[in-house]
Amino acid sequence: MKKLAAGNWKMNGTQASLAEVTALLEAHPDPACEMLLCPPATLIAAMAALARGTALMVGAQDCHPKPMGAHTGDISAAMLRDAGATHVIVGHSERRIDHGETSALVKAKAEAVVDAGLTAIVCIGETEAERDSGKTLAVIGTQLDASIPGGATAANLVVAYEPVWAIGTGRTPTLTEIAEVHSFLRGRLRGLIGAEAEGVRILYGGSVKPTNASDIFAVPHVDGALVGGASLKAADFGAIVAALSAA
Ligand code: 13P
Repeated sequence: MKKLAAGNWKMNGTQASLAEVTALLEAHPDPACEMLLCPPATLIAAMAALARGTALMVGAQDCHPKPMGAHTGDISAAMLRDAGATHVIVGHSERRIDHGETSALVKAKAEAVVDAGLTAIVCIGETEAERDSGKTLAVIGTQLDASIPGGATAANLVVAYEPVWAIGTGRTPTLTEIAEVHSFLRGRLRGLIGAEAEGVRILYGGSVKPTNASDIFAVPHVDGALVGGASLKAADFGAIVAALSAA
């Protein structure tokens, strides 16, 4: 299994930000891991043009579950593919919380991604209150069961474990806590999709930085990272790519 360093730019970036992509590719033209950036939809086509013929893949942050139609402001998975995306993040906690997305909707989106021939990065994660009350595994197990697409394979599914309380806070679970969750998720995936589970990348996300990346990547069943803030700067994301390549 090749590990995956994925960056989620969230609602950040304009054409000028593409200079970071050029710098990233100059510094890391041929990493040992896969490298993906998910810019806002407005930058997908331009970033994909820059990335063509390089080791960088380009993804999107969300899509509509339907392939086309009267859905003002929405974008379908097929359109994202047409713009050059190979992956689509679905079910990020910022969408589950800010837009009331349920796991059923996340699953419908993930299935639209797979139907369009792309890879779905399905995000799950507990809130701080859920962790404090000992419900972490129950919450993420339920989210995983209800969110992954039918017909999921190692090629069309990536799972991202992102504790809500670790996103953008500089706080992370302990390495033991990350290990517990990732090994639980591998087992849960085995129950859901059998042998394909061994090849599904399970990413950790939430305050991954150049300073903690190597430690996190040494945890069993951590197959990469989904990086927010630190993916905006080539130097930081490049250092994380290097750490994963060395893991
Ligand atoms: P940060 O790396 O900024 O904590 O964000 C993580 C995240 O939400 C990636 O999807």
